[in-house]
Amino acid sequence: MSRKATPMADTTCRNISAASAREGKMQGKSPSSSSGVFVKLLGIFLVGLVAWIYQVIQPPPPKICGASNAPPVTSPRIKLRDGRHLAYLESGVPKEKANYKIIFIHGFDSCRYDVFPVSQELVEELGIYLLSFDRSGYGESDPDPKKTVKSTALDIEELADQLGLGSKFHIMGFSMGGEIAWTCLKCIPHRLAGAAIVAPVSNYWWSGFPLNLSMEAYNQQAMQDKWAVGVAHYAPWLVYWWNTQKWFPSSSVIEHNTKIFSAPDLKLLGRFDARTHYVAQIRQQGEYESLHRDMIVGFGKWEFDPMDLQNPFPNKEGTVHLWHGTEDLVVPVILSRYISQKLRWVQYHELTDAGHMFPLADGMPDAIVRKLLLED
Ligand SMILES: *[C@@H]1O[C@H](CO)[C@@H](O)[C@H](O)[C@H]1NC(C)=O
Repeated sequence: MSRKATPMADTTCRNISAASAREGKMQGKSPSSSSGVFVKLLGIFLVGLVAWIYQVIQPPPPKICGASNAPPVTSPRIKLRDGRHLAYLESGVPKEKANYKIIFIHGFDSCRYDVFPVSQELVEELGIYLLSFDRSGYGESDPDPKKTVKSTALDIEELADQLGLGSKFHIMGFSMGGEIAWTCLKCIPHRLAGAAIVAPVSNYWWSGFPLNLSMEAYNQQAMQDKWAVGVAHYAPWLVYWWNTQKWFPSSSVIEHNTKIFSAPDLKLLGRFDARTHYVAQIRQQGEYESLHRDMIVGFGKWEFDPMDLQNPFPNKEGTVHLWHGTEDLVVPVILSRYISQKLRWVQYHELTDAGHMFPLADGMPDAIVRKLLLED
C-alpha cells in the first residue's frame, strides 16, 4: 500500500511544484504570490466599488432652461455678472409710479409665482410694486454651481439695479427665503428700506444658539428630517443620493408628507390648488440644482451668524419684522423666539394658532405688508 501511495503523492507534489515553478518564472516571484493575486483582485474590487458608489451618489447634469431638450424660457430674465440668468415676475403698480418697492424671496421647493397674494386694493392704496424672482436653480433661473450663503443676496442687489429700482427697496422673505433675508441684512443693508422675515428657517448650527436650545429644536423634527438635515450639514456630497434613494424615508418636505402640517396648516391646504399651473416648473432643471443645493447652503456651515448682526437701521430709517406661528411643524418657533430676544431691534410677532403656511390665510399678506411699510 505504502509503495503504491508514495509515487502518487510524489506525482502530485511534482505537478504542484512544476506549476509553482512556472508561475514563479512568469511573475518572478516566490510561491507565496497567490496571496498577491488576492490582494490585487481585492484592490480591483474596491476601486470598482468606489467608482460605482461615486456614480450612484453623483447628481445628473442639470436641464438648463433654453438649452436643447430642456424646458423653455417663458419669463423675462436678466443676465447676471457671472453669466447666469435670473427669471423674475413683476406685479402691483408700475415701478415708475410706486411709492414702495418690495422684493419677495420665495421658500424651499417654490418659485417666483409663490409671492404672497397681496390684495389689489392694498397695492393701489399704498402704491406697491412687487418683484419676485426664481432663486438660482429653481424655475427658470440658471443653477449656480458656486452658490454660497451670500450669493442670493448679491443676486437680489444685481436684480434691483438692472431693473432700476433705485437705491433702496424692501425685502420680504418666507421660510427658506426668510433665512436668506438675514443674508441681505448682512451683505446689502445699505440697499434696504426694511425687511419682513416670515416663518424663517433657522440653521441649527448657528453658533449663537445655546446647544440645549438647538438640540431641543432639532429633536422636534420628524426622524426622517433629522437625518435629511444632518446629511445636508455633515455629508453634503451625499445629499443627492440620500434624497433620491428609496430605502429610507428622505426629507418629509421634499416628499410632500402631510405630517409636516399642523391643524392650522391643514385648513389652508386647499390654497395650494393655485400652484397647480406652475408647480411643474419648480424642480424642472433638476432636484439637485433646486432643492438639494438649497439644503446644502441653508443647513451648511455659515461664515456669519444672524444673531451677531448689527441693526441696519440705527436711525430708524427702516424696520425689521419677524413673524412666526406657534404651531409651525416645519420650522420650530423656539429658534425665531430666541433670535428675537438676542436682536432687540427686530420687531417680533408670534402668532398663536398659526402654522407654517399662515401667510396664505385671509388677510395675512396685507397685514404683513402694512406692518412692513407703515409701522416704525
Ligand atoms: C438651556 O439652558 C439654559 C441655561 O442653563 C436655560 O436657562 C434654558 O431654559 C435652557 N433652554 C432649553 C430650551 O432647555
